[in-house]
Amino acid sequence: MEKTINELFDEAKNVSKNSYSPYSKFPVGACALFENGKKYYGVNVENVSYGLTLCAERNALSNAITQGETSGLVAIAIYSPKQKMCVPCGACLQWMAEFRRENKDVTIILENDDGMAVTHVLSEFLPYNFKFDK
Ligand code: THU
Repeated sequence: MEKTINELFDEAKNVSKNSYSPYSKFPVGACALFENGKKYYGVNVENVSYGLTLCAERNALSNAITQGETSGLVAIAIYSPKQKMCVPCGACLQWMAEFRRENKDVTIILENDDGMAVTHVLSEFLPYNFKFDK
């Protein structure tokens, strides 16, 4: 598990180099692991019309859905060279809740002050999420 955590963290770090963030100059990379072992990547993509910006985490999850995943999010690593412990925004947390495994939390891998990968869980940052009875 420790190896997987470090791998996901390194991959988020690596993909953050592809971020398109000329306006904020705040690159973000994300790497999401699903229960079938597949990994999906995302970066933040900005636009001259600032409000159209897409976050790295939601891009990674969109890539997963595009490839046929429907649920089964196990873990997601997030990295920015500009900030240690780059906690996902509220919108991205809600997206993570959508694709998690039933009755299971999602591991969120962030960078600590020493530059090491550390794990948190979705329920720490989003103890409740929006839902409605279908
Ligand atoms: N950003 C992300 O990619 N993920 C988040 O969870 C929050 C913020 C991006 C959006 C924007 O391109 C930059 O960080 C600064 O807000």
